[in-house]
Amino acid sequence: MIKPHGSDVLNPLLVEDPQLHQQLLTEAETLPSLLLNSAAAANAVMLGAGYFNPLTGYMNLADALSVAENLHTVDGLFWPVPVVNLVEDVSAIAGASRIALRDPNTAGNPVMAIMTLSAIETVSDAQIETMTQQIFGTLDPQHPGVATFGHLGRHLVSGDIQVLNLSYFQADFPDTFRTASEIRNEIAERGWNKVVAFQTRNPMHRAHEELCHMAMARLGADGVVVHMLLGKLKEGDIPASVRDDCIRKMVELYFPENTVMVTGYGFDMLYAGPREAVLHAVFRQNMGATHLIVGRDHAGVGDYYGAFDAQTIFDEKVPAGALEIEIFRADHTAFSKKLGRVVMMNEAEDHSKDDFVLLSGTKVRQMLGDGIAPPPEFSRPEVAKILMDYYQLEG
Ligand code: ADX
Repeated sequence: MIKPHGSDVLNPLLVEDPQLHQQLLTEAETLPSLLLNSAAAANAVMLGAGYFNPLTGYMNLADALSVAENLHTVDGLFWPVPVVNLVEDVSAIAGASRIALRDPNTAGNPVMAIMTLSAIETVSDAQIETMTQQIFGTLDPQHPGVATFGHLGRHLVSGDIQVLNLSYFQADFPDTFRTASEIRNEIAERGWNKVVAFQTRNPMHRAHEELCHMAMARLGADGVVVHMLLGKLKEGDIPASVRDDCIRKMVELYFPENTVMVTGYGFDMLYAGPREAVLHAVFRQNMGATHLIVGRDHAGVGDYYGAFDAQTIFDEKVPAGALEIEIFRADHTAFSKKLGRVVMMNEAEDHSKDDFVLLSGTKVRQMLGDGIAPPPEFSRPEVAKILMDYYQLEG
């Protein structure tokens, strides 16, 4: 099986030993508390679930700057996006050596981790700006990821963590949320060797479905792990429970049995395009996938990134041997009216734009909101029905 990133075995930071867990919970009651922001809490979930192996906690300023600029920590570990705990007000934890990290996304703000504090450093506006530019490729405050990152705070609280729970994800998505270790175990149980991961934050339309079929066939893979984002998205994106229903319906009807695992992970979307694609590859390697599909405008938003920047970054910024997982590159994929099937556009000879069924996300949302099903060439009718029901309720 493919090795995790940066170590021989996966070391999730979730404390599973019941005795130690209880001991840490008791200790937490005696410690100064820090209420995390959602971005830092999402990092704790990813660290706890093994997806951010081999990191042992939140990065300090030198590592965060080095990762943002050079895609590696000061010690040389390849890593594409700073994993930080940026805080607005650190007065409650000044002078402490151990602190309790509280979950902003669960009622009552329970303790989700204990941190052994290494440093509290002040990040200058210039340093935030540099990191923002490097991670997101823009400083535009209209960019949802830039807007979030710019408002997390200016104190960087770093150190190793022991994770006590994975926030609301296990309770809210019991059938879908999985840790990296759970997915690794299931891949091993199924006896899969070549495993394609599919990242998504959308209900799966025909293009998404076909990308999975094409990757499976061309790679001769044993199976696909659909791995959907379950954390926070920008306004207007479709809630995880609705996407989950759509994806399960599509898999049930349009994939051979036992070829797809429908799973999800607890992270907030960064909308960082190319950099996020590389992070996606790192954590799919950690969960045991040998390939990750990267198509058009992967993890993008608006017009901030070129349609295939998230593919070329793997040639330009990922040194040979830094990752074991490979990328399955897909061109813009759409239904060809001439051929009567979904194809990669660069493989369709003698086609003009009008030969494809192309609909913008805005147009599709508008149709669904009006109770009109997108054409079956774009969306499976059973998926469209779930989406229309959701939009009717919303509207
Ligand atoms: S993402 O933010 O999670 O990347 P989305 O769920 O829409 O968004 O896409 C999931 C994956 O499918 C990404 O790799 C994306 O590049 C790819 N993809 C989505 N639609 C298309 C398309 N029409 N053609 C090619 N690739 C696509």
